[in-house]
Amino acid sequence: MSSTAPGSDGGQGRGVAVVTGASSGIGAELVRALRARGTLVVGLSRRPSEADEHEECDVTNRASVKAAAARVLERHARIDLLVNNAGVGARGNYLDSDPEVIERVIRVNYLGSVWSTLAFLPGLGQGSHLVNVVSVAGTVAVGPYSASKHAQLAFSRSIAVELAPRGISVHTVNPGFVETEGFPQRERFGPLVSRIVVDPPLVVQRLLEAVDKDKREIFVPRWYRAVAWAQALAPGLVARVRSRAKR
Ligand SMILES: NC(=O)c1ccc[n+]([C@@H]2O[C@H](COP(=O)([O-])OP(=O)(O)OC[C@H]3O[C@@H](n4cnc5c(N)ncnc54)[C@H](OP(=O)(O)O)[C@@H]3O)[C@@H](O)[C@H]2O)c1
Repeated sequence: MSSTAPGSDGGQGRGVAVVTGASSGIGAELVRALRARGTLVVGLSRRPSEADEHEECDVTNRASVKAAAARVLERHARIDLLVNNAGVGARGNYLDSDPEVIERVIRVNYLGSVWSTLAFLPGLGQGSHLVNVVSVAGTVAVGPYSASKHAQLAFSRSIAVELAPRGISVHTVNPGFVETEGFPQRERFGPLVSRIVVDPPLVVQRLLEAVDKDKREIFVPRWYRAVAWAQALAPGLVARVRSRAKR
C-alpha cells in the first residue's frame, strides 16, 4: 500500500478514508475532494454527509463512536486515512462563557479526537495516515476554544510518537480563520481584516498535500506559523500586548 493519501496515485486501489465532522465546512469539502480522487469515504457526524457511506455519530459519546467504528471495520478491515475534523467553536473568554460551553469544546474538539482515534485504531496499520484538524488557536492562548485546541494539539503530537513504531503517520493541520457554517468568520471582521479569512478548499488542498508529502505539522495559510512562534518564544510579551488591546 502506498504511503501517500488513498487515491492520490490513481492506481493502487481506492483506499478507505474516515472523516469525522463530514456534514459541513472543511469536512464536507474533504469528503468531496477524496471522492474525486477515487477514495471510498466514510463520513461521521450527527447530520448526514455526502460520503459514500455515512455513520450517524456524536463523537463526544464514547459508546456511539465505538459502535460506529465497529460497524465500519466490519465492512472495511483497513482504514488508510482517518481525519479527526469534528469540532465546535466558542467565542468568548473564561469570564463570560457559559460553563456548558467550556465543557463542550473539550468534549468535542479534544476528547472527540481521542475517542475516534482509539475506536478506529484496529483498522490503522503500516502506511495508514491519521490527520488531526487542530487550529492556530491551539498554539495561542485565547479562551476556552483555544484551550480545547491546545489539548488536541498535545494529543496529536503525543499520538504521533506512540503510533510511529506501527508505521502510522500522524499529521497536524492548523488552520487560521476559515469561513464555514460553524465558524462564520467574515461577519466578525471589517472588510480589511476579513481578507485573511480563507475558504475550506485551501485547507483541504494543504491537508492532502501534508499527507502526500508526509508533512507532520502545517499551518493554513503558512504565515500563521509566526503567530505560534511568538506565543512560544515570548509568552509574556504576547500577554502584555493582548491585555493592552483589551483595555
Ligand atoms: N473554521 C475555522 O475558522 C476553523 C479554524 C481552525 C480550525 N477549525 C477546525 O476545523 C474543524 C472543522 O470545522 P469547520 O470550520 O468545518 O466547522 P463546521 O462547518 O461547523 O463543521 C463542523 C463539523 O463537525 C461536526 N460535529 C460537531 N459536533 C459534533 C459531534 N458532537 N459529533 C460529531 N460531529 C460533530 C459537525 O457535524 P454535525 O453537526 O452534523 O454533527 C460538522 O460536520 C473543527 O475541528 C474546527 O475546530 C476551524
